[in-house]
Amino acid sequence: RSVVFIGSECYPFVKTGGLGDVMSALPKSLAKLNVDVKVILPRYKCIPWEYQEKMEYKGSFYMNLCSDGKQYYVGIMEYQEDGVVYDFIDNDEFFSWGNPYTNLIDDIPKFCYFSKAALAALNYLDWVPDVVHCHDWQAALVPLYLRTCFADTNVGRASAVLTIHNLKFQGIYDRKMIQYWSGLPDYVFNKDCLTQNWLDANMLKGGITYCNRLTTVSNTYAGEIQTEEYGEGLAEHLRYHQNKIRGIVNGIDVNIWNPSTDKLLKANYDASNAIENKKINKKALQESLGLEVDENKMVIGLISRLTNQKGLDLVNDVIPGVMDGNTQVVVLGTGDSWYEDAFRSYENQYKGSFCAYIAYNENVAHNVYSGCDALLVPSRFEPCGLTQLIAMRYGAIPIVRETGGLRDTVQPYNMFDNTGNGFTFDRYEGGLLYDTINRAKTCYFENRANWDDMVIRDMNKDVSWETSAWQYKNMYLELTPR
Ligand code: ADP
Ligand code: GLC
Repeated sequence: RSVVFIGSECYPFVKTGGLGDVMSALPKSLAKLNVDVKVILPRYKCIPWEYQEKMEYKGSFYMNLCSDGKQYYVGIMEYQEDGVVYDFIDNDEFFSWGNPYTNLIDDIPKFCYFSKAALAALNYLDWVPDVVHCHDWQAALVPLYLRTCFADTNVGRASAVLTIHNLKFQGIYDRKMIQYWSGLPDYVFNKDCLTQNWLDANMLKGGITYCNRLTTVSNTYAGEIQTEEYGEGLAEHLRYHQNKIRGIVNGIDVNIWNPSTDKLLKANYDASNAIENKKINKKALQESLGLEVDENKMVIGLISRLTNQKGLDLVNDVIPGVMDGNTQVVVLGTGDSWYEDAFRSYENQYKGSFCAYIAYNENVAHNVYSGCDALLVPSRFEPCGLTQLIAMRYGAIPIVRETGGLRDTVQPYNMFDNTGNGFTFDRYEGGLLYDTINRAKTCYFENRANWDDMVIRDMNKDVSWETSAWQYKNMYLELTPR
């Protein structure tokens, strides 16, 4: 069986969030299950040189895109690792700016081009997959191209799977512009497909209409997006297509995220020596971030894009109550300046106890996961969430809101029978987050034996891709019976 992943980011080449992790780890896990996998990505200029220099030129051709009649260059650069072939679509006109995303005016033409070029490249390479698996709005036109322009070509025989990692982003823009750049036929611009309203088109909406299977990155989120509250305007459209929706929870790459081999840590550890060695990492973290060095303080971490999705207004509200002299907070993230400034000002107010590390930094992230006692993820919505999974693997107890994948992966702590993986709350309210942090503190300071048991339990929990990769493979088989 063969599948091609088409998406806009993939670790270690380019990553801005969880999509990059999934595009990297899931193909590797599928390869281990004997699925023939290829990943197609844009060749952005920001891809580190160490990978650029190892890419091999596979060929090039010209393709028409929109009604301007112009022929667009498509170069194919290849790189292989861990049983996965990566093909990078090369085109300076679209990908020369460095960053993967800029603004919709530039991104819409860029991802129309990318989606079409990816399919054309498969035909050019004569690599015909059973399944084309595309991700988020940036690749959501792929199923439409497959059934229109490419219908009578080799790649047109493939089934299409579309995965929604975040319904908030849909690629909505002026209909005339999307019509122009995509070059798709007029008949797909109707209200059941690409048309959003009299002015706009919606790329994700069109992908939902045309794919054979639609997946979300957790089961709970699959249900949530069909409600008005979480549906981001597409609830009705999604309910109409509910028969093809499946929820498959994400895992993490347990080789990259492995506290017993992680070279970035001061002290490596596994479940047998975590309680002792995590203290060494905690001290190293406190030292490097300018926090008071004291292993008895409870360190609460937060690693996140600083956006409205992540529940940061709740965090902001509860911080003064959380800072009780025995607790330290570390925020690692970048994003909306309002949040960045709010956290910076807390750093000033609680010197030595609060750290606002305003940056995107993989190395620091590893040290926060391993050095903190608990990790906050109070999201407003969370399609899956990977930080709570990484936290558990590193023995940091997650404190989460019961939504989306957070609900599916963190079983609430029960103090009576000493079970569960973390502390949870349901309604989106500061008061509930505050109570939940206090319950975590009570356990940490007054019932350390139970806390330590939970650390071990979390480290032993299976957060790998294994089970979910099987579910994807079975779905591919279901789509292409032989
Ligand atoms: P999302 O994709 O919505 O941002 P996820 O929890 O799925 O959320 O994935 C976030 C990923 O990005 C994780 O791998 C996390 O460690 C990483 N990450 C987020 N912010 C930062 C940061 N400031 N520095 C380093 N890594 C970060
Ligand atoms: C999105 C979601 C996140 C999910 C990630 C990977 O960025 O916000 O919850 O874990 O995609 O699927």
